[in-house]
Amino acid sequence: MPRTVRDVVFVDGVRTPFGKAGGLYAETRADDLVVRVIRELLRRNPQLPPNRVDEVAIAATTQIGDQGLTIGRTAALLAGLPKSVPGFAIDRMCAGAMTAVTTVGSGIAMGAYDVAIAGGVEHMGRHPMGEGVDPNPRFLAEKLVDPSALVMGATAENLHDQFPAITKERADRFALASQQRYAKALAEGRIQADLVTVATRSQESGWGLASADEPPRPDTSLEKLATLRTPFRPHGRVTAGNAAGLNDGATGCLLAAEEVAQELGLPVAMRLVSYAYAGVEPEVMGVGPIPATEKALRLAGLSISDIGLFEINEAFAVQVLAFLDHFGIADDDPRVNPWGGAIAVGHPLASSGVRLMIQLARHFAAHPEVRYGLTTMCVGLGMGGAVIWENPAWEGDK
Ligand SMILES: CC(C)(COP(=O)(O)OP(=O)(O)OC[C@H]1O[C@@H](n2cnc3c(N)ncnc32)[C@H](O)[C@@H]1OP(=O)(O)O)[C@@H](O)C(=O)NCCC(=O)NCCS
Repeated sequence: MPRTVRDVVFVDGVRTPFGKAGGLYAETRADDLVVRVIRELLRRNPQLPPNRVDEVAIAATTQIGDQGLTIGRTAALLAGLPKSVPGFAIDRMCAGAMTAVTTVGSGIAMGAYDVAIAGGVEHMGRHPMGEGVDPNPRFLAEKLVDPSALVMGATAENLHDQFPAITKERADRFALASQQRYAKALAEGRIQADLVTVATRSQESGWGLASADEPPRPDTSLEKLATLRTPFRPHGRVTAGNAAGLNDGATGCLLAAEEVAQELGLPVAMRLVSYAYAGVEPEVMGVGPIPATEKALRLAGLSISDIGLFEINEAFAVQVLAFLDHFGIADDDPRVNPWGGAIAVGHPLASSGVRLMIQLARHFAAHPEVRYGLTTMCVGLGMGGAVIWENPAWEGDK
């Protein structure tokens, strides 16, 4: 049977407000966060009959307890999607939601699905990083990886070693800008548009409503950042101020074949152009976005100068700066993370990839002069992921 690859579009995306581990969502289940996201996607897109959703792919890094039991399927059932809609769970650590998008996006291109939901969740409060892991002793016994490869903050210190031009002062300056850009976007009402409120419960304070991100620190100053301790190495450079924190949150998006979006009257926010994942040395996992981006550009027949907007996950400032240095982009380039990034808003591991996409979709709508945008992130154990998107609002070369 002859097949035609179909164009894949990002229709819409939403996320819960992000919380600090042990904060806002201390007594809220991870699967309930995903349910809110799925229900909001359906509420915002009433043209979409729920039985037209062909798949629900939800990522989580720690797939046990309320993040286990095949969370794509359990969340779909809990959200009230018809029982005929299947679902699955997916894991590529920090790039979980990104991988959910590229996996079901590929399924749409191949004709297996018309419409799908992809997203991710991480409740780092209920599931601390590394919970239940059992690395094979061969990793260290046979020196397959450096011992620091298993501690993300230590890999960030290794990056500072590898790129001495990226000083702690530069990392702190980048972190401050992230906080300032997020605060500005929030004040302008830009962040709120894609947040779904979550009812919370606390034994102590009763019911509450999560409607805003908890991690940002608008009072951040360079002076204060300079005083923070370096938990991953004595006299190191990585601090709580220039790293993403430990966070809880969920994200999700609707993807569709472009022709099906047209048929159903669904909006087209972004068109999928290409994607790639790449492996690097695990002890410097933060450089992963560089080869992933180079490969995604190559697959698309584009060069870095074709990219007009960047959403780069800020696991650590040093890792974003290594990417920017590699491609010759200034630390404060306004095309990069215009609303700040994970250093300010938080990084609930497997959920973050779709947060990048939600924001890029908003930037595209506001920038019809930009044709292509990039979402990219580093991944533990030495990987990077990159997805290139086209702006449907692009007005053409003037
Ligand atoms: C870096 C890390 C260890 C810090 O954890 P933590 O100590 O619980 O962080 P906190 O939020 O309590 O911050 C530590 C201190 O810095 C201060 N601080 C943090 N950010 C600040 C800022 N922007 N401005 C001023 N002070 C700040 C806090 O107030 C706190 O001060 P205190 O000790 O006086 O209370 C943790 O966030 C971490 O592991 N991050 C990386 C997560 C990760 O690896 N993700 C995967 C990426 S691949």
